[in-house]
Amino acid sequence: MNILAELKNRFRDALVDVAGDSDVQSLLEMIKPAQDARFGDYQANCAMPLGKRLGKAPRDVAADILANVNLDDLCSETDIAGPGFINLTISDDWLTNQINTAGEDERLGVESTTHAQTYILDYSSPNVAKPMHVGHIRSTVIGDSLARTLRFLGHQVVADNHLGDWGTQFGMIIYGYKHFVDPKAYQQHEVKELSRLYRLVNQLIDYWKSKQQIEPQQDDINRRQVELERLEQVQPTGDKKEDKKHSKALGRARDQLASARKTLDSLTAKVAAIDSDPQLSAYAEAHPEIGRSALLETAQLHEGDSTNRQLWEEFLPKCREDIQRVYARLNVQFDVEYGESFYQEMLPGVVSGLQEAGMASESEGAQCIFLDEFETPMIIQKSDGAFLYATTDLATIEYRMQTWQADEILYVVDHRQSEHFQKLFAVANAWNAPDVQMHHISFGTVLDESGRPYKTRSGDAIGLEGLLDEAVNKAYEVVSANDDSKPNGAELSDETRKHIADVVGHGAIKYADLSHNRTSDYVFSYDKMMALEGNTATYMQYSYARVQSIFRKGNVEIDQVRTSVQPIVLEHSAERALAMMIMRYSEALENVLEDYRPNQLTNYLFDLAKRFSSFFEQCPVLKAEQESVKQSRLKLCDLTGRVIAHGLQLLGIGVVDQM
Ligand code: ARG
Repeated sequence: MNILAELKNRFRDALVDVAGDSDVQSLLEMIKPAQDARFGDYQANCAMPLGKRLGKAPRDVAADILANVNLDDLCSETDIAGPGFINLTISDDWLTNQINTAGEDERLGVESTTHAQTYILDYSSPNVAKPMHVGHIRSTVIGDSLARTLRFLGHQVVADNHLGDWGTQFGMIIYGYKHFVDPKAYQQHEVKELSRLYRLVNQLIDYWKSKQQIEPQQDDINRRQVELERLEQVQPTGDKKEDKKHSKALGRARDQLASARKTLDSLTAKVAAIDSDPQLSAYAEAHPEIGRSALLETAQLHEGDSTNRQLWEEFLPKCREDIQRVYARLNVQFDVEYGESFYQEMLPGVVSGLQEAGMASESEGAQCIFLDEFETPMIIQKSDGAFLYATTDLATIEYRMQTWQADEILYVVDHRQSEHFQKLFAVANAWNAPDVQMHHISFGTVLDESGRPYKTRSGDAIGLEGLLDEAVNKAYEVVSANDDSKPNGAELSDETRKHIADVVGHGAIKYADLSHNRTSDYVFSYDKMMALEGNTATYMQYSYARVQSIFRKGNVEIDQVRTSVQPIVLEHSAERALAMMIMRYSEALENVLEDYRPNQLTNYLFDLAKRFSSFFEQCPVLKAEQESVKQSRLKLCDLTGRVIAHGLQLLGIGVVDQM
């Protein structure tokens, strides 16, 4: 039972009666959980805007609404407060009934949707052959948790890992393999050696690019310097507006000069890194055309060159295997993993289709789609015949629509690609997929403690596996310290500690990511994510373990409590508050889907855990005075544990019975 949905249902007809043909949906959106328990459980704030619309006093409108809505069984109290707020208190009997029904339900009282849709979720999607880094965690865990939530609510989900397995990184690796491979290292660990080659070629390409950019960059700085000096000479005019404008321009010029200098520094640093290393500078000298050559290798791969094709076929399965290891650790599965290469044969058809539809046209030798809303066109074929990222994405949409008749496609990809997706959706909706809803589920950057993108000291993005290892190691310390400090001495074997550390470590990383509003950047901190108090996976897992420990301590079989006929009774206000929160699980899941934000679920779990903790402080469970109260409270504890475990599972996070 979704209480909020039930309230909205009941209000709907009443609002139609009172509001006439006003937009009822927006009024229904104004029914919300109350912020403060003193105002009841829910609050309907629709009388104020409606009063304005109808030219009536909001308090009168509120009274009209209440007169029309049937809440007799559902609410024990309805109240009009202040300018016309309607405060609603759910009846204890009704709530007691519902919590008992939820307790007997495997779905914990969460109903399946009545309008099931087919969703394609495009997430994780790393460019293989490059090592996976911290940035990939976001797409992977957000996508996985959305897939789990959608499925639980009854939707069809196709989880698609759209691997970048055909891009320019392969040209770089092929070039690296042909010129720099260390056969012994390759034999020992292919993917490690391929990663090294990728980084090496990347670095050499960057070297030559940076070298070329230094002079123009210096010129740019000189120009900016002169301009700044000129601005600094300008005397105030006494005109406030003019002077303000001038001081703004001055500030801007200073900022731009500083940032141009920074760019120059980073260019010089890249060049110096190679120049100061005899081996690297020998490589650089011997491969001055490496940038162009690597691109050529990619082009040859795409044209079907047999050597390159063979190398690609040799590398690809190994790279895939390598990333599978990470997915196995994260317990993330996909339904399909075609990857970009799968769509290659469709690309000429995409271009000709768009030409025939009159959407693509030639511009400077390239095939482009000009869109009104965008300054730059979407390029679908370069003048040398090469297809682009966008071309593959259009083919992918075509395939997804034919194969699964998707209702919605969600792309969980970082915010830097937002323009790409806006253009993609505009073109696909206008061309081959008019009805499908597409959303870019964008997310921010993972930062270090000083607010910069999280990198290793050498400037590389941090490898994902190393990150997970570190989290598990830290979790082991946390778990061991917690166990060692138990009043009656440690309880866990080393093997158990290791298992717990695995669940806690991976959970902490995922939860830290999911609990932040996805569109914001967030600071990666092991200490914060593994705190035993606060909005962390560790706290949630700890709350779950606490419930299990009640049963252990009391020597009570959980199954016996679950099947007992003794119902949950809500007498203490903390019991009621906890039950109310348990009942709000389905609301939380609806909120997740509203804007595809898993942090709606973590927020909910945190609230639930807090209410549980306050219940546990105020209401003795094993020492309850009456057996019936003890049984009821045990049931409530168990139900809380089940919701926590279930919610965590929808986030892709496990639980343990003991910590
Ligand atoms: N491989 C791409 C990258 O790493 C992300 C792909 C996202 N999905 C898509 N259909 N474009 O940037």
